Amino acid sequence: MKNNGRFGQFGGFYVPEVLIPALEEMEAAFYKFYKDPQFVADLDTLYNDYAGRPTPLYYATRFSELVGFKVYIKREDLLHGGAHKVNNCLGQGLLAKYMKKTKIIAETGAGQHGLATSMVGALFGMQTKIFMGSIDVERQSVNVHKMRLCGAEVISVTGGTCTLKDAINEALRYWTSNVADTFYMFGTACGPHPYPTIVKHFQSCIGTEARKQCLEKIGKLPDIVTACVGGGSNAIGIFSAFVNDKNVKLVGVEPAGKGIATGKHAAPLNAGKVGILHGTKMYLMQDSDGQILDTESISAGLDYPGVGPEHCLLRDNKRAEYVAVEDDAVLEIFDIFTKCEGILPALESSHSLAWVYSQKNKLPADTVVIVNLSGRGDKDVDIVERNKIK
Ligand SMILES: Cc1ncc(COP(=O)(O)O)c(C=O)c1O
Repeated sequence: MKNNGRFGQFGGFYVPEVLIPALEEMEAAFYKFYKDPQFVADLDTLYNDYAGRPTPLYYATRFSELVGFKVYIKREDLLHGGAHKVNNCLGQGLLAKYMKKTKIIAETGAGQHGLATSMVGALFGMQTKIFMGSIDVERQSVNVHKMRLCGAEVISVTGGTCTLKDAINEALRYWTSNVADTFYMFGTACGPHPYPTIVKHFQSCIGTEARKQCLEKIGKLPDIVTACVGGGSNAIGIFSAFVNDKNVKLVGVEPAGKGIATGKHAAPLNAGKVGILHGTKMYLMQDSDGQILDTESISAGLDYPGVGPEHCLLRDNKRAEYVAVEDDAVLEIFDIFTKCEGILPALESSHSLAWVYSQKNKLPADTVVIVNLSGRGDKDVDIVERNKIK
């Protein structure tokens, strides 16, 4: 391959031999088209007219008053489909179309990537299969209905913990035997090279817009940019525009589930060890024998034992700070933020809001924080209702 896809010691492409030609073909197509004027124009049209870009940067007045500093919200929740995932799916879908692929597959956790893939499958008239853990099929059933309405086949995966990790295993297994005509649309900035690079590129519109909007609105850069981190695509998408601005603090928020001490969480940047899974070297939840640990999070989209390789490097070189918040804090902020602003945040995005809330009255009043609101919480209302804090 042109590039070995390394971020320091992290990344790479640890995949069965049979997948190497497909990844090489994808890498070559990406570098051929990503700056091609026609491709760029087509993608811009789709971003603007189909997905609803640019998304606003909204000043959250009442939430800011509550926490004692200035909070701006990057409204990825307003995109078609309800989350940032559509940015990446439109990019990869267009690439698949330029590569003349006719079938797409994807994994999904919260169902947002599965839904975005299904929308794009319908849009481009491509046969679409979505692999989803059976627990996630149940807890994110609304999204499953929507995927089917778009014409996708949803395959419920019953192996392992029946969540995102197992859906990826199954999708990779399927791709291995159907690699010739099928494009695997990976949903986050993780997995084998070239996915971390491709996904970051297609999500970097979030950061580019947010940086410009912040300069236009308040005439300076933010002090802090924060986002939740599952595989890491929405976070790397917004961080990418600020990573060279050394005075902008970058805070990624992982799911601490029932608490780091309980071991029931999915916070590899806080409590994982370096290992290899799904084709990439990264921080990973594993036991002393290298067995992958079962993870738990109230948010299906963050319930993954690994994390994108670029975040691992940003952690090690201390350019970004990675913290973790527990399920109870997530449920609490879902309620507080919704009542303050009339905006339902996805449980995934609620992690970054919960971290902001934990800083209440601890930061100077003129501190400017941008929160990437990666998705809307409509899909989560049943979970919130079932887990209501008494
Ligand atoms: C709304 C939302 N935010 C965040 C995530 C986590 O993914 P990533 O870390 O790739 O942004 C998901 C995953 O499904 C999601 O649905």
